[in-house]
Amino acid sequence: MKVLLATEKPFAAAAAKGIQAILEKAGHEVAFLESYTEKSALLEAVADANALIIRSDKIDAEVMSAAPNLKIVVRAGAGYDNVDLAAATERNIVVMNTPGQNANAVAELVMGMLLYTIRMRFSGKSGTELKGKKLGLLGFGHVAQHVGTLANGFGMDVYAYDAFGRRDNIDAAGLHYIESKEDMFKTCDIVSLHIPLKSDTRGSINADLFALMPKKAILVNTARKEIINEEDLLVAMTQREDIRYITDVQPDNHEAMSAFGDRYLATPKKAGAQTAEANANAGYAAARQIADFFATGNKRFQVNK
Ligand code: 3PG
Repeated sequence: MKVLLATEKPFAAAAAKGIQAILEKAGHEVAFLESYTEKSALLEAVADANALIIRSDKIDAEVMSAAPNLKIVVRAGAGYDNVDLAAATERNIVVMNTPGQNANAVAELVMGMLLYTIRMRFSGKSGTELKGKKLGLLGFGHVAQHVGTLANGFGMDVYAYDAFGRRDNIDAAGLHYIESKEDMFKTCDIVSLHIPLKSDTRGSINADLFALMPKKAILVNTARKEIINEEDLLVAMTQREDIRYITDVQPDNHEAMSAFGDRYLATPKKAGAQTAEANANAGYAAARQIADFFATGNKRFQVNK
């Protein structure tokens, strides 16, 4: 089978080589489309692909229609909002993700961006510490669980909220379960967002929640920019000179947000999973899942069921 690795933001070279080795050992042919800038390049490259490994690359109906032999798409990573699941199902294409594989990298970025912010960007100005601060984890998937562990190590007081009311994992991790996102925004000095982008989460972090944030609160977003109501955030940041926003990646209104100086920190390109380890973990998992799918029909991790 022909497997195309289509990564607009490429994996580390060693990870890409490792992916190729796993697939070739399983008898597959591997092609690369890295750092492409035009959709036309993707449309051309998928023409004879049986399988695709992608990151945040947008796989819509047009791309799938240009790939008549496509059987499986594996998003090497967690969020699969970039893949049109309905279009895939319609064409009998299996879509998978690789849950948890890059979670530690994203969690470390959360702590790193937070430290950089509260230590005044290492400028020499007096900052604050994480110890003793209340941290809220909105959503409790793999990334949030890793952040919880790291935050515990820093001596933070960690709260977690799960939209489906599943508190077992939260209790087992020794964290405080919190009943609602409103309670979280009201209670916590720092809220870190760990919810997927779906129709009901798009724009869901809005003025109602910003209004509840305590003095000097910080909002951290390593999930998706689209879950934030950017207009509401702009208004809140303008009205409240004490609150700060940290985000991986830049919002659409980055220029306007930049006016807030040190109260705003954004990565220019999504950096959460951009480590050698995360690239290898997620990439190798994707390669193994594809090899297994063609060898045995294993559809574990399918997300369009
Ligand atoms: C994910 O959903 O796995 C992360 O957002 C990482 O995305 P990336 O592979 O585009 O860096």
